[in-house]
Amino acid sequence: MSSHFLCHNKDLAELQSLGFTVETEQGLLELFLVRQDDKVQAYQNHCPHLGIPLNWQPDQFLSLEGLHIQCSTHGALFNVDDGHCIVGPCVGQNLITLPIEHRDDEIWLALTGPINI
Ligand code: FES
Repeated sequence: MSSHFLCHNKDLAELQSLGFTVETEQGLLELFLVRQDDKVQAYQNHCPHLGIPLNWQPDQFLSLEGLHIQCSTHGALFNVDDGHCIVGPCVGQNLITLPIEHRDDEIWLALTGPINI
């Protein structure tokens, strides 16, 4: 198990996303956090369509209206709360969820084992 500090709670506003690169035993892990309805989710930055990063600008993982995660390459849309693809070439597939912990006013990545990068 390994823990990695990501950000303070106040750094992630409602309907906002933040990207991170974390060094793990398997290599550099690209991930992002997103907050919706005051619930924070963490996903690997990896589109199930082509296996490439979802964003082309730093920290920009959401659709224009901010209600879905959007892949910048072919526009696939994913639910914020479970990472399920609802529109696009990878419809029916899922983003990879990552475990996080809230420690006081901090958000930590809390890996419980090896991860595929
Ligand atoms: S690479 Fe993400 S939708 Fe094609």
